[in-house]
Amino acid sequence: MILAVKPRGIGIGPAAWVQLQLGMAILSRSAGIRRKVANAADHAAYFEWKHENFGNVKDTLTKPALWKQISARMRASEERWHVLEFGVAFGHATEWWLSHHDETIIATWDGFDRFTGLPHAWRDLPAGAFSADGQPPDLDDKRITWHVGDLEDTIGEMEAEHIASGRRLAYFDLDLYDPSKVAWEWIRPHLRPGDILYFDEAFDADERRLLDESVLPAGSYDYIGATVMNLAIEVRSLR
Ligand SMILES: C[S@@+](CC[C@H](N)C(=O)[O-])C[C@H]1O[C@@H](n2cnc3c(N)ncnc32)[C@H](O)[C@@H]1O
Repeated sequence: MILAVKPRGIGIGPAAWVQLQLGMAILSRSAGIRRKVANAADHAAYFEWKHENFGNVKDTLTKPALWKQISARMRASEERWHVLEFGVAFGHATEWWLSHHDETIIATWDGFDRFTGLPHAWRDLPAGAFSADGQPPDLDDKRITWHVGDLEDTIGEMEAEHIASGRRLAYFDLDLYDPSKVAWEWIRPHLRPGDILYFDEAFDADERRLLDESVLPAGSYDYIGATVMNLAIEVRSLR
C-alpha cells in the first residue's frame, strides 16, 4: 500500500498520520466496517446523552435484564398495568411480557402495528423489514387487543377509558420518528406519575429526537435503567 505523503503543518505526528491513513484505507473498502464504526459512534453519543440527562447512571447489560428491572417496579406498585406496545412485529416482546405477568399485574395489552413492516428504510434495514405479512401474532390471551394498520390511522380508535385505571407502560418500538411522535402525542395527556416509558431504540436519532424535543421537556422522570440501546424511565411529574 502506498501511503500519501503527510502534508506539512497538519498538526499530528507521523504515527497518528499513519494510523489515520490506515483507518481511511480500511473504511473506504468496507461498507460493513463503516456501518460498525457509525453504530459505535451512536452508542458512544447515547452514553454521553444518558449522563447529561440522568447523571452518573449505570447501564444494564442486556435487554432481558432491563425488562426485569421494569417488571420489578411494576410488581412493587401493587397496581394493575395497561401496556401499549407501539410496534409489535412478530410479538416477541408481547409474548415475554404476557407470559411473565398474570392479569393481577398486566390487565390489558394494546398492540399497534401495520404488520407489513417498516414503511421506509431505517438505519441499514430496508422498507418492509419486520413484515409479518399483515398478520398479528397468534397469541391466545384475552388481554390483547391488536390495532392493525398504520398507527397514524389506528391510534384514534383507542378508548382512553380502557387504560384509565391503575398505571400505564408505554412501550415505544416503532423505530421511526413520525409514528413514534403520533403515539407520544396520543398517550401524553393520559400519563400520570408512576407510569413507565420504555424506548427500544433510544440510542438512535429517531427516538432520541422524540425524547429531546417532546418527552423530556414534558415532565420530570426517574431513570429506571438502560442498555447500550434501550431506555426505561418512570414519570415523576408532568407539566
Ligand atoms: C422493531 S419492530 C417491533 C418489534 C417488537 N416490539 C418486538 O419486540 O418484537 C418495529 C415495528 O414497527 C412497525 N411500524 C413502523 N412504523 C409503523 C407505523 N407507522 N404504523 C404501524 N406500525 C409501524 C413495523 O411494522 C414493525 O413491525
